[in-house]
Amino acid sequence: MGNESEGRRAEGLGLTGAAAGNPTTAGTPRRGMRRLLALIVAGAVAGCLLAAGCAPQPRSAQPAAESEAEEAAQPAAFTWSADADCAMCHDKEAASQQDAACGAAQHGDVACVTCHSDEAGLATAHEGAAADGKGATALVQTAVAEEVCAGCHDVAALAEATADSTVLTDSEGTVVNPHAIPENGDHEATECTSCHKMHSSTGVEKTATRYCKSCHHTDVYQCNTCHA
Ligand code: HEC
Ligand code: HEC
Ligand code: HEC
Ligand code: HEC
Ligand code: HEC
Ligand code: HEC
Repeated sequence: MGNESEGRRAEGLGLTGAAAGNPTTAGTPRRGMRRLLALIVAGAVAGCLLAAGCAPQPRSAQPAAESEAEEAAQPAAFTWSADADCAMCHDKEAASQQDAACGAAQHGDVACVTCHSDEAGLATAHEGAAADGKGATALVQTAVAEEVCAGCHDVAALAEATADSTVLTDSEGTVVNPHAIPENGDHEATECTSCHKMHSSTGVEKTATRYCKSCHHTDVYQCNTCHA
């Protein structure tokens, strides 16, 4: 996969320029503005629909099987399916698959729906999404389950691979293997995606330590030394 994917990454960066190369900063204000505009437009449309008669029935009230002519008359309606063109609305996530700084670039050949496999949850999350709308900033209604990652990665081998990792070192010098953190009730909810981000260019060294500090607020991997 080496040479081919290097070529694709370089090409992606060359074509899409600085905004795509640093999606978390350069692209944000404009996207935010467009999103705001989309919300305003959506609000205006909703208000219009409420003020009876100025538009056909809301889509949800119509039968599922519509003629193509009716479909064409309502360009804003969108029904999610796994075959949809995701990049049309999720340009940031699509660009991240070509941005070597993002985890998604390690998965440049992996289809969006291979990781985003909760089809029912996604169908619900997309209800009311406009065809010209901009996507989401976080996973709210769905998750990428650990089983998805485990489908390709040998989880048992990970702890061995990072046995000497010092990324997770607290302020007192305690080192923890990221793939073998001690078991307790508070750590139970930890998943691959607690530490590994796919569409952000922030490296795992930062995102993983940030995750630990969300509870270990003094950067000490203990609690009871200070709290009763
Ligand atoms: C017509 C535009 C559009 C298309 C096409 C589209 N999405 Fe979305 N998507 C959205 C919008 C808008 C949201 C935000 C919904 C919200 O915030 O309620 C969203 C949200 C999401 C989310 C976040 C769900 C969550 O957990 O809250 C994921 C993941 C996602 N889309 C994946 C996909 C994938 C994968 C595809 C292609 C198969 C796709 N989308 C196609 C517009 C679109
Ligand atoms: C469809 C298979 C597939 C899925 C699903 C998948 N990966 Fe990967 N992943 C790969 C492949 C292939 C590579 C590239 C391995 C290489 O180049 O050494 C990779 C690379 C990685 C790397 C970089 C490894 C390195 O050596 O730096 C990380 C981290 C990673 N994946 C984490 C995840 C996480 C977390 C998930 C779940 C959110 C996930 N992967 C889902 C196949 C997959
Ligand atoms: C507690 C945070 C954390 C969790 C949870 C976590 N990882 Fe990691 N992972 C890391 C860190 C940090 C590294 C980099 C270690 C280093 O390079 O020293 C890493 C490295 C990796 C690598 C590269 C390993 C190598 O050979 O160098 C892969 C692949 C990977 N993780 C996949 C996963 C998968 C799959 C899961 C879920 C089963 C997972 N990780 C859960 C923090 C985490
Ligand atoms: C290797 C697995 C993987 C692939 C491939 C993948 N995603 Fe994601 N996606 C994730 C994970 C994990 C998150 C949680 C946030 C993060 O990691 O950055 C996420 C978050 C999202 C979100 C929520 C907003 C955000 O950026 O956090 C959207 C929307 C989304 N993905 C869409 C897509 C689309 C569209 C594609 C294909 C172009 C895609 N994803 C490919 C794993 C993946
Ligand atoms: C959701 C909150 C939470 C998160 C996130 C969290 N911890 Fe903890 N951790 C705790 C609590 C609470 C304890 C004390 C539990 C106890 O003593 O039973 C603890 C205890 C520990 C201990 C001592 C365990 C022992 O048996 O001596 C270590 C080491 C530790 N955490 C490391 C980490 C690392 C590394 C991370 C990041 C990968 C992390 N923790 C993330 C809440 C958390
Ligand atoms: C190095 C000592 C130290 C460690 C270790 C530590 N804390 Fe604290 N914690 C403090 C101090 C000091 C405060 C009071 C700080 C303040 O009020 O600003 C505090 C405040 C808190 C508070 C707010 C309490 C309140 O009444 O406002 C919570 C909750 C808390 N800690 C939880 C934890 C948990 C959970 C852990 C382990 C994951 C932990 N702390 C580890 C020193 C520590």
